[in-house]
Amino acid sequence: MIRDTKLTSNTGINLVFFTGAGISAESGVPTYRGKGGIWEQYDWQAVASQEAFNRNPRTVIAFHHKRRKWLRTCKPNGAHEVIADLETKVPVTVITQNIDGLHQDAGSQNVIELHGSLWRSRCEACHTVIHSKFKQMVDNRCNCGRWLRPDITWFSDPINQQVFDSARKAVESCTHFFSVGTSGVVWPAAGIPSLALEAGVVCTDIDIDPNKEIPAGFTRLTGKASEILPELFQLSE
Ligand code: OAD
Repeated sequence: MIRDTKLTSNTGINLVFFTGAGISAESGVPTYRGKGGIWEQYDWQAVASQEAFNRNPRTVIAFHHKRRKWLRTCKPNGAHEVIADLETKVPVTVITQNIDGLHQDAGSQNVIELHGSLWRSRCEACHTVIHSKFKQMVDNRCNCGRWLRPDITWFSDPINQQVFDSARKAVESCTHFFSVGTSGVVWPAAGIPSLALEAGVVCTDIDIDPNKEIPAGFTRLTGKASEILPELFQLSE
């Protein structure tokens, strides 16, 4: 376990944090599954698929607009913060399935967004990408007249292969791999912990659910990410 107040860039340590919705739960961002989860309240087939968007763009846009509005009220928590802090001391890569941007808000720079970002929209026709973190999207139309869709990976969308390859590279070159707050049921992201095992690195799973299935070879730490991560690293000033 790394309980080290002397982490410096020459320790040879190289960390990967593979994160899911659970890391943002205590920032007030609802998780997807389980009680009160987003997919318990909404039918993903109606709001989170290209098919739904083609059928009824206004419904899909309204759902994502509501999520952005809520997210604007959410701040990074201790888990995001300790990961950002670590990056100032040792090589750190965050591979996140989250689309909330909270790792970046905490100060993490080296973030691979496997499922895109709620703060970007894109036009499938002319490939324009709009960043909407600091401005409200008044109209969800591109200048070319087409609807802009959120630049995120919906159900049935292929994952961006380049992004996935950069995640794989980071996992293969790390020394310690932490899976944090993910149910591990959405593929191909769910295969990333196995890549870490194959690479022979030290693997830890941090999750609030003591009964979550984790791959053999992972050390299980049960509890809130925002409590476990600061405790684990106990960074010095
Ligand atoms: P899930 O909602 O499936 O899983 C959240 C995980 O976080 C569960 O294992 C919870 O037990 C755990 N958890 C909840 N609160 C926690 C806390 N405070 N500390 C630590 N762990 C906690 O979310 P993801 O695994 O991220 O895809 O879901 C994967 C993908 O499914 C998402 O990226 C999204 C969704 O459909 C797309 O949008 C494409």
